[in-house]
Amino acid sequence: MVKKVLTKPDSLVLVIFGGSGDLSKRKLIPSLYQLYKNGKLPKKFAVLGLGRTPYTDETFRPHLLENLKKFLAKGEYDEALAKEFMSSVHYFSMDPQEASQYVDLKEHLLLLDKQIGNDSANYIFYLSTPPSLYAIIPKNLSLVGLNKGYQTDNDPRPVRRIIIEKPFGTDLESAEKLTKIYRQYFREEQLYRIDHFLGKETVQDIMALRFANGIFEPLWNRNYIDYVELTAVENMGIESRGGFYDQTGALRDMVQNHLAQLLALIAMEAPVQFNADHFRNEVVKVYQSFRPMTQEEIQKNVIRGQYTESDWKGEHHRAYREEDKVAADSRTETFLAMKLHIDNWRWQGVPFYIRTGKMMPTKVTEIIVHFKATPHKMFADAQGKTIPNQLVIRIQPDEGIVLKFAAKVPGSGFEVKKVSMNFTYDQLGGLASGDAYSRLLEDSMIGDSTLFTRSDAVEMSWRFFDPILQQWQEEEDFPLYGYPAGTWGPKQSEELFTDERHSWTNPCKNLTNSELFCEL
Ligand code: BG6
Repeated sequence: MVKKVLTKPDSLVLVIFGGSGDLSKRKLIPSLYQLYKNGKLPKKFAVLGLGRTPYTDETFRPHLLENLKKFLAKGEYDEALAKEFMSSVHYFSMDPQEASQYVDLKEHLLLLDKQIGNDSANYIFYLSTPPSLYAIIPKNLSLVGLNKGYQTDNDPRPVRRIIIEKPFGTDLESAEKLTKIYRQYFREEQLYRIDHFLGKETVQDIMALRFANGIFEPLWNRNYIDYVELTAVENMGIESRGGFYDQTGALRDMVQNHLAQLLALIAMEAPVQFNADHFRNEVVKVYQSFRPMTQEEIQKNVIRGQYTESDWKGEHHRAYREEDKVAADSRTETFLAMKLHIDNWRWQGVPFYIRTGKMMPTKVTEIIVHFKATPHKMFADAQGKTIPNQLVIRIQPDEGIVLKFAAKVPGSGFEVKKVSMNFTYDQLGGLASGDAYSRLLEDSMIGDSTLFTRSDAVEMSWRFFDPILQQWQEEEDFPLYGYPAGTWGPKQSEELFTDERHSWTNPCKNLTNSELFCEL
């Protein structure tokens, strides 16, 4: 089969709805700067930030410049280069809800096209707005014909794509409705639903680990794997995002998308090829295999929590309910832990434990694959315990992979002890900050949607998680446990483990020292 070669257009305008917002200054602009620095942007390129804040090009740029310095890692900021890059950043003040203002937007784009030589009027629209606008913008774009992309595969002009930030819908019904709306104005190939976890090098490396190494594949199934643990926690609260977060919660913010994607990569079958269709087909199959839970099972297998106030590391941290724009009696979860099963040939009987939370002791995302013990425990300790074999996949920080196993302690007798073999990304030159968004923005320019979520995957994932949200809504007394900031969440999350051999591993910030010196 001939692989389609994808190329970047020569000229392009990236239009960011929500251009003056948080994501833009923290992630999008720094990632575009990285692409610029590495010579990866189209030759004739401009960014057009849109928003209601009345900036001009001249007032918008210093604001971004200041943040660029703040959000790039040390050593990545180069004043002269940053200023050069900023000259391609523009701003247009408009209300995206107002259909009439799209006529002005189109005119403004035409002027910008002339200025940079974007003769084909190639545009990528990035939706980084409150999700309530997701249904309005595509329609308004279509009113002035800005949705119209290429008509045939042989004439790829103009490029018209739309990148949509998560969450795509707030439940199954709203996601289906959104898909219908988008389908009226865009073709699926024009839609790039972004889940930035898939842009992370370490997440993509799960595929290399599994499918470029013959050593793991024979072991990667129910015969050898005991259980899988996935932890994605953060040591900060919701910061200034109270308005968004209180309507969203951990399940919608992290689990239905990011954690589901990680599970898909761990559990998927090998795609026939690494391309958009084959890869995403396999993702969908994993979601289709999530075992639906009854109401009783949801009660038992889903634990939610919310951070309470605490003094931690010499600082006072207020409770979630005291955060700005959060209801004083809010029942929104800032922590979620659950056990789930994947009903297919490979994973029958293997539990997957996942958890995420704000205000935890450290920021870490890690997957641990726990292998089954040897059939005969010749080297068990006095309590009959053996050293478990674990493969730790550290997504962030201190990125790497560690294989833990038993080795004989030198000397007389026969004592065994846990040791590890480590790989860290430092060995490959380290990872640039902002790699996830840079990678995905570049892919969207090339027209490679492999690492973006297809509509059937979004819906399939909602199909599994939606009943949990519904149950929370219907059962007002569904437990919501408090946990003090700086802890690993409610104790009840430990009750998910019905097998006494299983438990949470609380990772350290430092990957390679974790086993020997520190398990928090
Ligand atoms: C975002 C969530 O998608 O992911 C945030 O909305 C979360 O709440 C963030 O903090 C975590 O991403 P990362 O890349 O910092 O782990």
